[in-house]
Amino acid sequence: MVTLIASLLVSSLAAIGLAKPVVKCPVILEGRVPLNTTVDTFDTSASRFNPDFVKGANLTWFQIIQFPSTAPSKFDLPINKAIEVTIDDRSIFAPGGNAQIGFRRADLLLGNGSDESNIGVKTFHWSTKQDRFAKLNLTHEYMTVWHETNDFSANQFSFNTGLLLSDTSLDKSLWKVLDRNNNVIWSTKIAWDTWQNFAITMDMDKNMLQVYYSKGYDTLKAVTQLVVNDNSGGGQFHVGILKKPTETKTVVYDGYQESGIFEGQIHGGIFIEDSAGECISL
Ligand SMILES: *[C@@H]1O[C@H](CO)[C@@H](O)[C@H](O)[C@H]1NC(C)=O
Ligand SMILES: *[C@@H]1O[C@H](CO)[C@@H](O)[C@H](O)[C@H]1NC(C)=O
Ligand SMILES: *[C@@H]1O[C@H](CO)[C@@H](O)[C@H](O)[C@H]1NC(C)=O
Ligand SMILES: *[C@@H]1O[C@H](CO)[C@@H](O)[C@H](O)[C@H]1NC(C)=O
Repeated sequence: MVTLIASLLVSSLAAIGLAKPVVKCPVILEGRVPLNTTVDTFDTSASRFNPDFVKGANLTWFQIIQFPSTAPSKFDLPINKAIEVTIDDRSIFAPGGNAQIGFRRADLLLGNGSDESNIGVKTFHWSTKQDRFAKLNLTHEYMTVWHETNDFSANQFSFNTGLLLSDTSLDKSLWKVLDRNNNVIWSTKIAWDTWQNFAITMDMDKNMLQVYYSKGYDTLKAVTQLVVNDNSGGGQFHVGILKKPTETKTVVYDGYQESGIFEGQIHGGIFIEDSAGECISL
């Protein structure tokens, strides 16, 4: 049913001329989800993401991922579809049995930390949309997309919203791109009813990054200059949802999370492309 709706949406978008392929650089890691993918795929090695991480200790991706009946994002047209990553009270990651009770999280991992996406100049793409029936609670801080170093000590960049624990003076309804030092380098309002498309180019050799953005089916535009950022340490591209607690000291192991939640993020157009020679898909 959902696949049928998605196919109909694709045909109607094709009819108005939007369904032309727009990715022009070599794709290094592919996270776009083909229309015929079933949810159980995410728990198998056929998944484009790591089937084992990062999710609630007793949950499968089958329980976490949904296919929302929304039009595909611009880089998903015409053969891929959106996914929705959800969290509820069970979304407690417990690596080595050590439950991270501060967080509610489910984030898909693209790459293994030592693949080609960690070399040279690469652009990380994702599109995001909101589910009005599974809204975020912006009293909390969220990360929905980030690139975490292999030693888990930092994120080369992260894409956050809600009330930041580190700076409660900032408008909670903004998306905020944070650099490795957790400085907000760019922000924009959450759009509640349309796709928002983001891309970050990381130059691993020159230690620079640059942010691109558009809404709906518009062409991406640079919204920052090339800014200095420590891109060392390798890592993985996380796409999903991580909700931080309020009233917390350690963030990971304590704090307040209300119970009875059901929240989601719709994602699409996930891929990492080679931006050697300043190639970028806009
Ligand atoms: C989806 O379609 C592709 C291309 O036709 C095919 O190779 C693949 O096996 C299909 N996957 C599933 C899960 O049916
Ligand atoms: C997972 O299930 C086990 C067995 O029921 C339980 O002891 C544990 O607390 C659960 N872990 C989490 C993080 O919910
Ligand atoms: C990581 O992925 C790359 C590309 O698929 C592969 O060549 C490499 O062996 C992998 N490394 C590890 C540690 O699994
Ligand atoms: C949002 O989160 C705060 C803190 O957990 C909680 O007190 C409040 O009830 C939540 N609001 C909604 C609308 O869920």
